[in-house]
Amino acid sequence: MTETVDLRVADLHPAVDDPALNSMNFLNEVAQHYPDAVSLAAGRPYEEFFDVAALHRHLERFRRHLADDLGQSPAQVHRTLLQYGRTKGIVHHLVARNLAVDEQLTVDPEAIVVTVGCQEAMFLVLRALRADPRDVLLAVAPTYVGLTGAARLLDLPVRPVRGGPAGIDLADLREQVRLARAAGLRPRACYVMPDFANPSGTSIGLADRRRLLDLAAEEDLLLLEDNPYGLFPASESGRPPTQSGRPPTLKALDTARRVVYLGSFAKTVLPGARVGYVVADQRVAGADGTVGLLADQLAKIKSMVTVNTSPIAQAVVGGALLEHGCSLVAATVRERAAYGRNLRHLVDGLARRFPAGTSPVRWNVPAGGFFVVVTVPFRVDDALLHRSARGYGLLWTPMAHFYDDGAPVDALRLSVSAVTPEQIDLGLDRLAALVADETARRAANAEVG
Ligand SMILES: Cc1ncc(COP(=O)(O)O)c(C=O)c1O
Repeated sequence: MTETVDLRVADLHPAVDDPALNSMNFLNEVAQHYPDAVSLAAGRPYEEFFDVAALHRHLERFRRHLADDLGQSPAQVHRTLLQYGRTKGIVHHLVARNLAVDEQLTVDPEAIVVTVGCQEAMFLVLRALRADPRDVLLAVAPTYVGLTGAARLLDLPVRPVRGGPAGIDLADLREQVRLARAAGLRPRACYVMPDFANPSGTSIGLADRRRLLDLAAEEDLLLLEDNPYGLFPASESGRPPTQSGRPPTLKALDTARRVVYLGSFAKTVLPGARVGYVVADQRVAGADGTVGLLADQLAKIKSMVTVNTSPIAQAVVGGALLEHGCSLVAATVRERAAYGRNLRHLVDGLARRFPAGTSPVRWNVPAGGFFVVVTVPFRVDDALLHRSARGYGLLWTPMAHFYDDGAPVDALRLSVSAVTPEQIDLGLDRLAALVADETARRAANAEVG
């Protein structure tokens, strides 16, 4: 008999058994187990807009750009598209143009690293910042589980900062910085999602964005700004947002290179391309006195993680950008209309099914994005999600997955991005039935008790 090598999870990096790393798998498994359930859980984009033919068009558009605009010879074009390539990417100049057009943000293309999704960008930045066992990351809670999981893999503790309805509680941020320093720790940065955050749906107003930058300057803290949903405000008209109608990004307000900006094309172009980026224009002084960009340090790390982002995937995104004059605001008119319509439909549907005054169910009304948080009068955990899927044919995400402390949570996240208004109606009818039954069940249990 052949001896097999058997390992124990306990012998692997502790992060592999951490709830943060199990979260996405668990939620995917529940979804796979109940394929017929209505899913108000998935934060993925609406698939009806995907178009295989567009891939060919975008590739060809980018190929012509390389030849006609950048003057590459046919051999160079082949190499750019098909060979191992530049670590920092081949669409950085188009990303810079996009940020100029849509966000009035001027960035040096050399400060951009094109990554395998925003997820890799987060990983590279956290890897670079975690220099010492005393280092910690602050993050607005509830927070995106991908951030928590990446930090876990890097042995970088995440300390929560209260979010609240204004998107960030600045007094608590100051307090958390002080507490961490008093404990001998080094808060390296604070992770924020100023626009339609995942999972809370909240946004940070303009005045607080300025105060946040001021506070970061006073406390000498970097800010990691993650912005996958900013182009999806749910305006009544469904018209493309003008820059004047959207608050500027933190990065656009940042005059001190204090913000590391994380971007994703998953929601604006195509999640399957797995292309994102980071703007890291911070200057980094070397031991020999030379000064470079943080982007170049991130590129070194990237060269040991993914080598370079697939040039074919970048070319698809590059072609999509070129097709719309590098404006993703222009490229996402349909998506914005659909997500805005769905968000309004969900919020109106909640109000009809859980009337104020008679129902204890509460929810927030985000100004855009994919997510709404619903608070119910009982604990919301994975067991309840299973009951909801099995007994009611409805999936959602327990908010406990977005907190790092394991404390009981009485809220769930609903997502409007991958459903039709009809599915939202069906899902909310099922949610109303679940809430009614669960409330009655708990009341009966209390009486028995
Ligand atoms: C807040 C946030 N950041 C980052 C990501 C990951 O983006 P990407 O698909 O580009 O890796 C997501 C995906 O849902 C997200 O919600």
